[in-house]
Amino acid sequence: MAYNRKVKKSGKHNINMKTIPYGRQWIDESDIESVINVLKSDWLTQGPKVEEFEKALSGYCGAKYAVAVNSGTSALHIACLAADVKGGDNVITSPITFVASANCAVYCGAKPVFADIDPRTYNVTSDKIEKKINKQTKVIIPVHFAGQSCDMKSIHKVIKNKEKKFNKKIFVIEDASHALGSLYKDKHVGSCVYSDMTVLSFHPVKHITAGEGGAVLTNDEVLYNKLKRFRSHGITNNPKEFVYKDQAFVNPQSAIENPQSVNPWYYEQVDLGYNYRITDIQCALGLSQLKKLHDFSNRRREIVDMYNDAFSNIDSIQTPFESKDCNSNFHLYVLLIDFDQMGIKRSQFMNELKKKGILTQVHYIPVHTQPYYQEKFGTGWGDCPNAEKYYQKCLSIPLFPSMTNIDVERVIKSIKGN
Ligand SMILES: Cc1ncc(COP(=O)(O)O)c(C=O)c1O
Repeated sequence: MAYNRKVKKSGKHNINMKTIPYGRQWIDESDIESVINVLKSDWLTQGPKVEEFEKALSGYCGAKYAVAVNSGTSALHIACLAADVKGGDNVITSPITFVASANCAVYCGAKPVFADIDPRTYNVTSDKIEKKINKQTKVIIPVHFAGQSCDMKSIHKVIKNKEKKFNKKIFVIEDASHALGSLYKDKHVGSCVYSDMTVLSFHPVKHITAGEGGAVLTNDEVLYNKLKRFRSHGITNNPKEFVYKDQAFVNPQSAIENPQSVNPWYYEQVDLGYNYRITDIQCALGLSQLKKLHDFSNRRREIVDMYNDAFSNIDSIQTPFESKDCNSNFHLYVLLIDFDQMGIKRSQFMNELKKKGILTQVHYIPVHTQPYYQEKFGTGWGDCPNAEKYYQKCLSIPLFPSMTNIDVERVIKSIKGN
């Protein structure tokens, strides 16, 4: 796979030095050709590539259905809508995630509740979730942070017990925005063995990209039909879902519920949905990228091995822990750095690396400490001590498949030399 990156020429330290971001897409000629073919075709949106992409995703992940949308955020929103989240409900998620994992609950009028993370995996755990479940709990959104799956089997067990206790359904929506290609107990994340739905994102820093995009996977036909409606204005063309049979069918008396017997103009809006549709252009890119996911993941693993070798014997640095039930795709490579022990502030450390053309990032500021959440929901510092401790030390260093070994060595040398 050939790859060209622009060489940056600015500042006296940066002569002929390319900037290495913390993550980025890899687009090749076959991706470009796939997109061009759609541009030359009859369908830019609502065409055959959408279904093709959905089938490829559900087939790859091992789920029955996939609904592709225009972002991971939209996918989370329609998953919450399909779970009937509304005012008065609680939705439990992780504080160490992108804000979208919690915002989706707020979009539906529900209250987000944050369960603390495990200090080793940085994922929410079943025992922390269990303590937060009450009568108001409608949905749990475990986030597979950095690519490593949460312990879904134990989360599933806790939910089943609580469902019995409260005599109600509690939905599980996996936020697998980081985890396409990861395995949990030898099955692909997205198979929904221990959940009702799984959400993916195709933002350019993710494993595969569609420019922007997302999807919801499920094994449940009822949820699948709801997801399709919420993606597109709450409108249905499915004869089985029509409410006004007398309006819908050519011959209402003998209304057989198949598309041929429906009035040709007819559709119904049965829910309040959105325009979260993804285009065929994006799906063509996603399809082309999906073919390379395996190679992308293998290259990420090679880089991770180089990083682990380089950093695992340094006192002030902790490398990522890998749980035995999981095979992470390594969306992110997060180091925990004891900046106090190193005698440097994180901001200074990041700025020094930036001067050397190496961009790092903090994933994430705990969501419960964001001003919006503090002001609207009364959350704050002290709510999730493990997450807050993690936040003090975390730093994501560059990891993306098109990094060369020379890039990797440059990152290692620069971090060690700081
Ligand atoms: C964990 C997590 N959930 C949800 C999202 C939202 O995905 P998107 O950017 O595709 O809307 C992201 C994006 O960064 C994410 O990292």
